[in-house]
Amino acid sequence: MKKRKRFVVANWKLNPETLAEAKRLFAGIKKAASGLEHVTTVVCPPAVYLAELKKGYRGKKVALGAQDVFFERMGSYTGETSPAMVANIGATYAIIGHSERRANGETDADVRKKVAAATAEKLTAIVCIGESERDEQGAYLSFIREQLRTGLADVSERASKRIIIAYEPIWAIGKTGDDAIQPSDLHETVLFIRKILNEQFEKKTAFSIPILYGGSVERENAGVLFEQGEVDGHLVGHASLDPEEFRDILFAVNNAER
Ligand code: PGA
Repeated sequence: MKKRKRFVVANWKLNPETLAEAKRLFAGIKKAASGLEHVTTVVCPPAVYLAELKKGYRGKKVALGAQDVFFERMGSYTGETSPAMVANIGATYAIIGHSERRANGETDADVRKKVAAATAEKLTAIVCIGESERDEQGAYLSFIREQLRTGLADVSERASKRIIIAYEPIWAIGKTGDDAIQPSDLHETVLFIRKILNEQFEKKTAFSIPILYGGSVERENAGVLFEQGEVDGHLVGHASLDPEEFRDILFAVNNAER
């Protein structure tokens, strides 16, 4: 059987402070990623750095992505960045619906429009979902289902090849490796997400959509979460700002057994 693609996405958030540092960090990541045969590495820096990092890099191992995009193409929307602008400078991915944006008021309805706008510009949308807490009764599962159903409502079978799901439980974000999800709980959630995708898409399509995990992925847990959680890769926040740690995460995912 053909091997599934593996992804490691670096979400730099509001870091680093200068373009010079961003260039150094990107250089380290390019070097680490260059020899990997199974992993596609995606770097999502602050939007102001995208064009500069893209300049002069023609390689295929590392792709660039935005941390957010707006749903309109042009107009009176102060501070926004359109998917077309991101695509035009050569970036190919966009994180959409990150919990830190949802905390600032972004709704499932916004995510739905952004996903449609991004895929229309041929960007791959990394759609973030995840509950703020896990309850015994399983209300968090209904919450995830709703995020998925609404967020992907306008995605056609065809556009689905430009969708990646990033499952990021909010309670696990920005902590240490010890606070990440247990691999068996992750596996269970991945199966649940796959079931929801199956309700919307044809079986083959639902099976092909990559599902990543995010939330305190570090060098110690990247391999085990990938293998036992049965995800297609990780979305990495704080550990993507340390080139050596990030290199170890890339290697762990590349070398994991499947
Ligand atoms: P973290 O962030 O790896 O620092 O937990 C992940 C994310 O928010 O995407």
